[in-house]
Amino acid sequence: MQKLLVVTTSLVAAFALAQGKTADTKAAFKITGDPAKGQAKYKELCVSCHGEGGKGDGAAAVALNPKPANFTDAKRAAEVTDEYVYKMIKEGGAANGKSALMASWKGALNEGQLMDVAAFVRSLSKGAATPAAPAPEKKDDKKPAGKK
Ligand code: HEC
Repeated sequence: MQKLLVVTTSLVAAFALAQGKTADTKAAFKITGDPAKGQAKYKELCVSCHGEGGKGDGAAAVALNPKPANFTDAKRAAEVTDEYVYKMIKEGGAANGKSALMASWKGALNEGQLMDVAAFVRSLSKGAATPAAPAPEKKDDKKPAGKK
């Protein structure tokens, strides 16, 4: 009887240990870079495809299929995680099940620079670098010019 109790106890302990090991202990990844610093690298390395304002309309984009992502699309930005954005920049499309047209930049940028450029990409969907369209002119109480 006592032997059975020992076996049961150790089984429970082993199970608890296994549970602890499989539990997700990794904290959520967060982009912590400085977007202002990232902008310089972005202009240097990313504009040709992703465009000055990040809309995916760079000069080289015409020839690309799939098209480079539009970083100003808030809906898309909400769908993707910080980890995905960072990994896409660091490892490139091919390593992340996406198009190899998106290169890996880990050879050209160090960890800090990768974070900065990722932060800049993230800032684009928050309207930071996309000036709002001019408000439509009100025509209500305007009289046609040159007429009395
Ligand atoms: C040669 C053109 C090219 C250059 C240069 C380029 N990209 Fe890309 N990028 C792409 C293409 C094409 C995709 C879309 C890949 C896909 O959807 O399969 C992409 C996708 C991405 C994505 C994923 C976005 C999403 O919502 O899926 C990020 C982030 C990104 N690029 C960041 C950058 C950054 C930062 C740089 C500069 C360091 C850069 N790219 C340079 C072509 C380029």
